[in-house]
Amino acid sequence: MGASAMHPPALQHVYLCLQFLLLCLQAQGENQSSPNFNQHVREHARNSDQLSRRHIRVYQLYSRTSGKHVQILGKRINATAEDGSKYAKLLVETDTFDSRVRIRGAETGHYICMNRRGKLVGKLVGKGKDCIFTEILLENNYTALRNTKYDGWYMAFTRKGQPRKATKTRQNQREVHFMKRLFKGEPLFPNRNRQRHFEFINYPVTKRTRRTRLPKRRHRT
Ligand SMILES: *[C@@H]1O[C@H](CO)[C@@H](O)[C@H](O)[C@H]1NC(C)=O
Ligand SMILES: *[C@@H]1O[C@H](CO)[C@@H](O)[C@H](O)[C@H]1NC(C)=O
Ligand SMILES: *[C@@H]1O[C@H](CO)[C@@H](O)[C@H](O)[C@H]1NC(C)=O
Repeated sequence: MGASAMHPPALQHVYLCLQFLLLCLQAQGENQSSPNFNQHVREHARNSDQLSRRHIRVYQLYSRTSGKHVQILGKRINATAEDGSKYAKLLVETDTFDSRVRIRGAETGHYICMNRRGKLVGKLVGKGKDCIFTEILLENNYTALRNTKYDGWYMAFTRKGQPRKATKTRQNQREVHFMKRLFKGEPLFPNRNRQRHFEFINYPVTKRTRRTRLPKRRHRT
């Protein structure tokens, strides 16, 4: 059966379908109260976001293998810092909607970057994709940080806290697992709403979101 076999009734059908689609699209466009946010995020996450103001969070990264915190000592980086060490205080800048971040040491001002051999290095200028990581929340609730330039290469540390060559890293290895911890003594983030927004993206089922959603479903009896 070829396309030439199409009869007028069939054409009319196609025409009606198109009209219906058009109406749907129009209705969607008109409904300003419910933009398709997920789609929006997906589209924008592909590129670096140069327009929005950068959000900066302050936290420490606790390494699952070393049991200590990531510290930035200028060009050198390792994961042997105690909780609250000034070198473990990280300023984490969001790069896009999509939990891509630049991580800078508060004390030294160096960014955590990855060189082409998979080595972690501290750099003062962190504009390149080698200094951007995607935060991935794993099923075990640890966070992995995948480099944006070298896709598939993760930030990783050995048990002794030495950086592990990223060329050999996989998401399921303990060496790439981290826990984000507030910096000791740091007040909660300057803007609580931003923090909540961030948590919503990364932790879809938190106790907090559950608690805030429940009352909406409850009806008066
Ligand atoms: C607009 O979105 C709201 C909230 O999702 C929904 O209740 C409403 O039915 C929508 N209106 C139209 C015209 O689609
Ligand atoms: C991860 O965290 C969620 C929310 O706190 C919890 O429900 C879940 O059991 C945790 N998963 C693991 C493997 O610990
Ligand atoms: C980590 O850096 C500190 C400070 O420079 C140093 O004393 C320590 O030996 C380093 N540890 C490792 C495992 O590289």
